[in-house]
Amino acid sequence: MSHAGAFKKGSGRVVSRVDTQAGLVTSRIRENGHESTKYELKNLATSKAARLNALSGTLGPDALEISHLIRDLGVFTYDPGFMATASTESKITYIDGDAGVLLYRGYPVEQLAEKSSYLEVASLLIYGDLPTRTQLQAFQTSIMRHTMVNERLLRFFHGFHHNAHPMAMVSAAVASMAAFYHDTMDINEPRQREIFAHRIIAKLPTIAAAAYKHTLGQPFIYPRNDLRYCANMLNMFFAVPCEPCAIDPVAAEAIDLLFILHADHEQNASTSTVRLAGSTGANPYAAISAGVSALWGPAHGGANEAVLEMLDGIGSSANIGKFLARVKDKSDNVRLMGFGHRVYKNFDPRAKIIRAMCYRVLEKQGISNKPVFELALKLEEIALKDEYFVSRKLYPNVDFYSGIIYSALGIPRSLFTVLFAIARTAGWVAHWQEMVSDPHMKIGRPRQLYTGPAQRDYQPIGGR
Ligand code: CMC
Repeated sequence: MSHAGAFKKGSGRVVSRVDTQAGLVTSRIRENGHESTKYELKNLATSKAARLNALSGTLGPDALEISHLIRDLGVFTYDPGFMATASTESKITYIDGDAGVLLYRGYPVEQLAEKSSYLEVASLLIYGDLPTRTQLQAFQTSIMRHTMVNERLLRFFHGFHHNAHPMAMVSAAVASMAAFYHDTMDINEPRQREIFAHRIIAKLPTIAAAAYKHTLGQPFIYPRNDLRYCANMLNMFFAVPCEPCAIDPVAAEAIDLLFILHADHEQNASTSTVRLAGSTGANPYAAISAGVSALWGPAHGGANEAVLEMLDGIGSSANIGKFLARVKDKSDNVRLMGFGHRVYKNFDPRAKIIRAMCYRVLEKQGISNKPVFELALKLEEIALKDEYFVSRKLYPNVDFYSGIIYSALGIPRSLFTVLFAIARTAGWVAHWQEMVSDPHMKIGRPRQLYTGPAQRDYQPIGGR
């Protein structure tokens, strides 16, 4: 596809156009004295044109409305990987990838990380505003009252092999919650939606802990509602019935911070999956389970586990050069895990905060975990000066350092992505709620560019 640009000044307006070999012209007309920019898409062969409405948000670039193109011009748009497609309107999270900005309901993530708590952020994401003291208290009490799961659900875990990956068990257990709450889940009832939101946020740590205890062969530890959200989760991971378990407040604080940073990230792969599954009217527990599965991949939430495996593989800073040579070799399928992002083309603001927390946690834990951190710092330093990463604007993302913190806190690697899933549940729920409460909700149904065989006749087996 070639783009030949022509730019001419007309009487009182400026017209720019981009031609393509496909015979389409995109004209952008800016009329003097008017704020708005108008767009037109034209089929050069027929001269048929379609006006494209530019929708403006509060922040960020305009989005062109294209849903009528098939009606007006008989064409679809083609955008594999959604590089330039807004799939929905949303009021929840804003990212400016070039400036390294992340806002939850308008609040910078740095301020929330410094001053807020995960449950306060969850309430903000779901309800739209920072809660008052009374509202926050009520939310926290409700979450901590819903932490237990049905005993029958706990029995599902016995069906898994001891070395099943916790993400597989968590995804299955969350989907099975649809079976427990099927009759009380009318998605058109705001109160039932709210109960769902509280239940899933409350029960995910219990489910995650059950998955972990199953792999260890230890008894499940019941939730303790007198503890705060993250301290309760750590207690369910590490306590055993035969002796007391003291939860390190720095560990609980570090996890709470990581949860705030992971709580939402607008229309990423897992959130879009939750929306797509939920758009069919499916039970929301099933939709969240779909999100857990989408998160698992190493290009998304699975990166935190993959970073530690990568650092182990590199071993020492003497091997960084050799490793980066493999990353840059396109015939070798190796990536620098924890680097790069579809949206951030500048420092991921979350990575900066996590790196600072990493220093605190490692200091508290003593020297033993430092070599991995030092290797990660060295790798980051070298990569940030390397032309390959500089020219592609590849910076450390949220997962470059999160795994180092988790492992310093004694969390096993297979649980890293599970923790990401627990944190992201607040965002998934907020997006599902936003979508379902929209009276214009539509089933998500992308179209395709078909490149398979044209119609042909069935051949009897003897004649093939
Ligand atoms: N290591 C080496 N090269 C990379 C990397 C990387 N981590 N990331 C991107 N590139 C290269 C890629 O090969 C391509 O090069 P070229 O233009 O020569 O073909 C260019 O940079 C653009 O990459 P892309 O794959 O087209 O970018 P994308 O937006 O489709 O992918 C990404 C984004 C996050 C999947 C990718 O950067 C990646 O695989 N990173 C490593 C995995 C990772 O850390 N994921 C966690 C993301 S943050 C947590 C979350 O929100 O999920």
